[in-house]
Amino acid sequence: MGAFRVLSKSLRHYTPKASIFPENSITPRPNKWLCRTLILESAPSQSVNLHRLSDSDSGIVEVSLERPQVRNAIGKDMLKGLQNTFEAISKDSSANVLLIRSKVPKVFCAGADLKERKMMSATEVQDFVNKLRATFSFLEVLPIPTIAVIEGAALGGGLEMALSCDLRICGEDAVLGLPETGLAIIPGAGGTQRLPRVVGRSIAKELILTGRKIGGREAMSMGLVNYCVHAGEAYLKALEVARNINEKGPIAIRMAKRAIDQGLEVDRASALALEEECYEQTLHTEDRLEALAAFAEKRKPRYTGK
Ligand code: COA
Repeated sequence: MGAFRVLSKSLRHYTPKASIFPENSITPRPNKWLCRTLILESAPSQSVNLHRLSDSDSGIVEVSLERPQVRNAIGKDMLKGLQNTFEAISKDSSANVLLIRSKVPKVFCAGADLKERKMMSATEVQDFVNKLRATFSFLEVLPIPTIAVIEGAALGGGLEMALSCDLRICGEDAVLGLPETGLAIIPGAGGTQRLPRVVGRSIAKELILTGRKIGGREAMSMGLVNYCVHAGEAYLKALEVARNINEKGPIAIRMAKRAIDQGLEVDRASALALEEECYEQTLHTEDRLEALAAFAEKRKPRYTGK
């Protein structure tokens, strides 16, 4: 388990993989009901915690950011915590959906730790930003769906982390922005690439060139977030969405994410061939047969991820 403190013993289905980046291939999945007591907490960074929901929510995993004194700003220690946590999730075949949330009121994440940065040389800054970019790229390609739960400020690296998730859900008091140009730098953890891919080139340019911060409703109107709900209710909405995903066929969910993400990066013919390949991965599964049986018997399917 390396960096993680195991709080209970349902680890027999834990299937570590050796690679740094998660594979999109299918690994055998455990019966989710057998894993319901597994709770992990990150040891090296007090500011990043991993928690598994239990019982009927088993399969939903939460990463919480908790560095109140600097509004969840990401310094070296927190970056290490994020790296370790995402890597642990990538190796955990019982995880079906990930929520990233803040435990600090009125802020999701204030971006890079500017106090720590003041003490760094240019080389150290470059090294840090490269690691942050790699960590968010790792988050982006996790095989399971990821949801950023945004209450309050998501600025700079905080928004870049949210942009690396599949979905974003915010409260209407949220403040989102990439203010880096005002600090005489540019977004360096994927922001210049992911923002235009989400909201389009023109809007992304305006937001990055001016550093303008926007509220939750405006973020919703430009498609930057999937839902904007009443302030304080983003987590509940995210949980609702996560539960909806969690009850679907786990292999289908992974293959759908892979087909969309990888398909958008290649030409149409290759993308359709990729869809075929991903569909095939769902074809020879017990879950597909279970779905057909459940339909015939007019009951809810019980998926095992096999
Ligand atoms: N790095 C380091 N420290 C930070 C920080 C950051 N990115 N953001 C906030 N802090 C610190 C503040 O310096 C302050 O510390 P202090 O108590 O020693 O003065 C503390 O967190 C609280 O900040 P404060 O501004 O008083 O809190 P707030 O709730 O009024 O506002 C924010 C929260 C996030 C809106 C505001 O702090 C902010 O705009 N931060 C900068 C965000 C930014 O520009 N990020 C881009 C980095 S590239």
